[in-house]
Amino acid sequence: MINHSTIDQIFETARVEEVIGEFVNLKKSGTNFKGLSPFTEEKTPSFMVSPVKQIWKDFSSGKGGNVVGFLMEHEHYTYPEALRWLAKKYNIEIEETQLSDEQKKVLDERESMYVISEFARDYFHDILLNNEQGKAIGLSYFKERGYREETIKKFQLGYALDQWDAFTKAALSKEYKLEYLEKTGVTIVNNDRKFDRFKGRVIFPIHSMGGRVLGFGGRLLSTTAKAAKYLNSPTSTIYDKSKVLYGIFYAKQGISKENNCYLVEGYTDVITLHQSGIENVVASSGTALTPEQIRLIKRLTPNITVLFDGDAAGIRASMRSIDLILEEGMNVKVLTFPDGDDPDSYANKVSSDELKAYLKEKPQDFIRFKISMLLKEAQADPVKKADLVRDIIRSVSVIPDRIQREIYVKECANLMDVSEEVLFSNLAQQITKANQTKSGIQRTQQIKKMEVVRQQSLQKINQLEKYEREIIKILILYGNQKADFADWIEEKDTLGNLKITKKIYENIVAQEIYLNLQEDEIAFTNTSFQKTYNTIIHLYNHTQFIDTQKLSQHEEPSIAKITSDILMDDEKYILSDWARKDIVVKSKESYIPKLVNDAVLNLRRILIAEKIEEIKQRIEEKKSEREDLEGVMGYTQLRKLLFDKLHRVV
Ligand code: CTP
Ligand code: MN
Repeated sequence: MINHSTIDQIFETARVEEVIGEFVNLKKSGTNFKGLSPFTEEKTPSFMVSPVKQIWKDFSSGKGGNVVGFLMEHEHYTYPEALRWLAKKYNIEIEETQLSDEQKKVLDERESMYVISEFARDYFHDILLNNEQGKAIGLSYFKERGYREETIKKFQLGYALDQWDAFTKAALSKEYKLEYLEKTGVTIVNNDRKFDRFKGRVIFPIHSMGGRVLGFGGRLLSTTAKAAKYLNSPTSTIYDKSKVLYGIFYAKQGISKENNCYLVEGYTDVITLHQSGIENVVASSGTALTPEQIRLIKRLTPNITVLFDGDAAGIRASMRSIDLILEEGMNVKVLTFPDGDDPDSYANKVSSDELKAYLKEKPQDFIRFKISMLLKEAQADPVKKADLVRDIIRSVSVIPDRIQREIYVKECANLMDVSEEVLFSNLAQQITKANQTKSGIQRTQQIKKMEVVRQQSLQKINQLEKYEREIIKILILYGNQKADFADWIEEKDTLGNLKITKKIYENIVAQEIYLNLQEDEIAFTNTSFQKTYNTIIHLYNHTQFIDTQKLSQHEEPSIAKITSDILMDDEKYILSDWARKDIVVKSKESYIPKLVNDAVLNLRRILIAEKIEEIKQRIEEKKSEREDLEGVMGYTQLRKLLFDKLHRVV
């Protein structure tokens, strides 16, 4: 809970061009900077940073925002993580808001546990690189496995001395509290005796998405001992194995960029693949894959490729993972390795290029994989094989796309050595069977109808959002300006005839929009737009000035993003050639009243049309009843209202 004045100070101090400059090679371009998009693989730079407005925009991916937004997009930090990163960079001391004692205790505890984990990581790493026993045993073990020095440093690998309490003693001598040493699990306390949990093991630190150390995996060097090969940190307030993925911190960039994530089983698979140049890889680390872990990946990409260990047990376990991934609505591909190899051992056998080619060419889609896998078991048994055929065709029959289905049927015929005709007729049977059940037909019709309704309302929402954004755009770009607006006023002349006269008046754009929308009680459909609108109006009403800098640095990310997007679009517009000739920019200003009127009118038109539609529907439904005067009245009244409004604004 960073307090507001600290947040303000961070925004005031941080320079977007400096921060982005740490991740992207920026070149000056007019008053702005340009570079290659860090989010796509582009050849001509379309990534822009505006030092004046303190915002950035990536025209190739559509992303953009303020300095914090960049860190959130690029480093996948949460909002507070990004602020803390900036505070550290600019040496700003973070003041926390007042917390309750209970909150403080939890925060203190978590923080202390992080600090201890980081101390332990540094300690084990130092032992591995500099201590005689560490070098002789730990380091030479990693080297034997083929890890290069830079890899060992990157993954911060370590070694815990083969002594009962060497680490615990070192930590206590640095005044770290035993309570937290025990809570993080690096020390085991038994009555008044203390032991190092990872004694004699090589250490794999486990990081959060943001790079903090959450826990450790420790591997025994020899597998002859009776103890478990791997020992992991126990569950604690900072470590929950079902919610972490090993390697996610190092992989997040690669996953976003490649738009795919390789999922492996072990620590060593992750590290070896990295060393071979495959960086978009994470491991579930021995636990069965959980929905939380899958959602972690889903933040970065909708695509997962599961890399199996070659053995049957590994494959069976991974079948369940595949179902879970499908359930999360993600796309899954599957890749197996030649008998007995896991990703680690395979990567050690072949060159980096061969490995990359294998990963590129060999993944199978899920159904094809299922066929080939199950077929192995059923090949020799005709009864089993027939069952399998039916099973797979049933899966194929639910695929909505006809062409896709046919491809699978052909594939299946090939792989299973069954004639295509038989399969197609079986497929047809299964499809008709599904369609013929009465409820089935009803369901299809209902689904169709729902789809039409959905499409219609989607279209309407899209249209509305377009105009809502337009209004916000006007507020941000011209909200503070004055302009001449027109109104039509009904007056009776001396003879008592109704006369409509046009009146011109000057108003501030923000004021004009606010009054217009308020009059009609117009609410936005898009909640982020509504939030932005409310904030702008609040700002205007309190200070008589819309400070766009304040908006683009707003702590509510959606407001900051919408504002900076609009500012950056405008920047691009100004930069474009025809605008530079100064023609468009100037005339754009004189069109402000028209812009305002059009935006408000368009929004009104849709909303009123919608109301009319609603009433029509009501009348439709009441058709059988005779008197639906109420409805008809409402309908005509609204029509009148619509024409009045159109008339007034046009
Ligand atoms: N694992 C574990 N506890 C064990 C065994 C395995 O937590 N007793 C987890 C580890 O995260 C390990 C993963 O399961 O990385 C896969 O296990 P395994 O394939 O046996 O280990 P590898 O990582 O392949 O290690 P190595 O190559 O050193 O055998
Ligand atoms: Mn393995």
